[in-house]
Amino acid sequence: MRITDTADLWYKNAVIYCVDLETYLDSDGDGIGDLPGLTQRIDYLADIGVSCLWLMPFYPSPRRDNGYDISDMFGVDPRYGDHGDFVELVRVAHDRGIRVIVDLVINHTSDQHPWFRKSRASKETPYRDFYVWRSDTPPDTSEEAMFPGQEDGIWTYDEKTEEWYLHHFLHTQPDLNTANPQVREAITKTMGFWLQLGVDGFRVDAVPFAINQTTLSGADEHEFLEPHDYLRTLRAFLQRRSTGTSSAMILGEVNLPHEEQLAFFGGEDGDELTMQFDFTVNQKAFLSFAREDARPLAEALSERPQNLSTETQYANFLRNHDELTLDLLSAEQRDEVLDTFGPEQDMRFAGRGLRRRLPAMFDGDPRRIKMAYSLLFALPGTPVLFYGEEIGMGENLEVPGREAVRTPMQWSRDKNGGFSSARPSKLARKVVEGPFGPEHVNAAQARRDPDSLLHHIGRLARRYRDCPELGWGELRILEQPHQEVLAHRMTSGGQSMVLLHNLSPKSLVVPLRLDEQDQGSELIDLLQDGSCGIDAQQHTEVTLEGYGYRWLRMKRPGDPRLL
Ligand code: GLC
Repeated sequence: MRITDTADLWYKNAVIYCVDLETYLDSDGDGIGDLPGLTQRIDYLADIGVSCLWLMPFYPSPRRDNGYDISDMFGVDPRYGDHGDFVELVRVAHDRGIRVIVDLVINHTSDQHPWFRKSRASKETPYRDFYVWRSDTPPDTSEEAMFPGQEDGIWTYDEKTEEWYLHHFLHTQPDLNTANPQVREAITKTMGFWLQLGVDGFRVDAVPFAINQTTLSGADEHEFLEPHDYLRTLRAFLQRRSTGTSSAMILGEVNLPHEEQLAFFGGEDGDELTMQFDFTVNQKAFLSFAREDARPLAEALSERPQNLSTETQYANFLRNHDELTLDLLSAEQRDEVLDTFGPEQDMRFAGRGLRRRLPAMFDGDPRRIKMAYSLLFALPGTPVLFYGEEIGMGENLEVPGREAVRTPMQWSRDKNGGFSSARPSKLARKVVEGPFGPEHVNAAQARRDPDSLLHHIGRLARRYRDCPELGWGELRILEQPHQEVLAHRMTSGGQSMVLLHNLSPKSLVVPLRLDEQDQGSELIDLLQDGSCGIDAQQHTEVTLEGYGYRWLRMKRPGDPRLL
């Protein structure tokens, strides 16, 4: 028996919600969101149908990269609370049936981490090999720097020992030497620690960079390691430490094309990452939105590898805490999306993406926004929301860089959008102003309005949870004549759903031809009242309004399993 045979695959139909503590809810009036603040909102999240909370880094950090530069992997940044508050949050979340995953940054630490301080102090220290050093002058690496405006290469010279250290991100984020067994042990120890405090898994940051250190520097003969061994070790450790009713998962950030992602799942063995964000589908979805043509998205979905092991899963998202990166598109496709959704330079980031939230890109059009979220939940895989998406928050372009989308959560129309009672000048980040500001967009108002995006997303989340076809099923793209429409069918355990999304503002009638075994069935609308008949030749016609969407379940007469 393989270890995973006993695993609980809860993440295959989870609804994941990502929170940046700093900007979520400030419970003590210091202008910074905190753990007790989030704990107060667990019922709000449970109400939406969220089943897994993803916490962005909350560890001690000099915050040169929003906490992704960690100076103590076992700690809690005192601005957010302490370990007691963390355990309290996990307990309350679990009580409401919500699992908790935390960010695990294995590629780098902060330059203020004690390991790096020791590593840079001398060439002789045992910590030297925790990081990647070179003594020869590096070539031009400006193309490889992840933040081109801020760094002009991936090597920085250190005066003290007169060598260069590697950093794919900021120079204040030195890359760990993950080929070093001691580093590997330190990372698993970190996982063990947070698992013991009750977490249900990890979102693993920047995975391809992290496993790239295949040689041990300083050794006479370079010892070559198989990079994917490292991920296998992490997964095996996770499995050993989380048996029982709730097995933990690792959700990796691997921004690579599908065929390259396959190796990060561990190929057909499925013994590496349990989940990966689908960056291809994300970027192709935005190309499709820009063109009002569903074909790029349909192609991306069809090209997803089909032979994945049961334990693995794709995580779908529309927006996240970073820029909407478009780096997997061709240069022309990227320009199309940038021109459509980021006409002003200020809306763009590093020439490859957009520092905007979706509702602003869609000019606040409620029909289009609701269609996009219906699509997110209807895609094969597990949906991931970024905080504030459920109420349709916009970005604040006055906030520099990627932080434009990490503004305070808008709870009400009160001062600071109900996020904090502090003076506005003390807030962790500026609140959004204008049409997407808290006077117009806030959770309190949305709760009272049955037509709000919040209620729409709540309905989608609950429907998604009771449609195993979506998280578990097999995908088929359905033939139909309109390029504006994505028509797909999801099938699992003998149950089927047909999902239709119109990416254009035109009203359309979609003729569908179904399978012979569907004869006599009915298509029941799962989001609104009604059904569509199927004629004797297995034909049916479904009307879609502009930006319309339908979730239709195939119901055989008298099938008792289906509601
Ligand atoms: C990931 C995170 C991003 C961070 C980077 C470096 O890409 O999503 O926010 O800046 O890693 O840690």
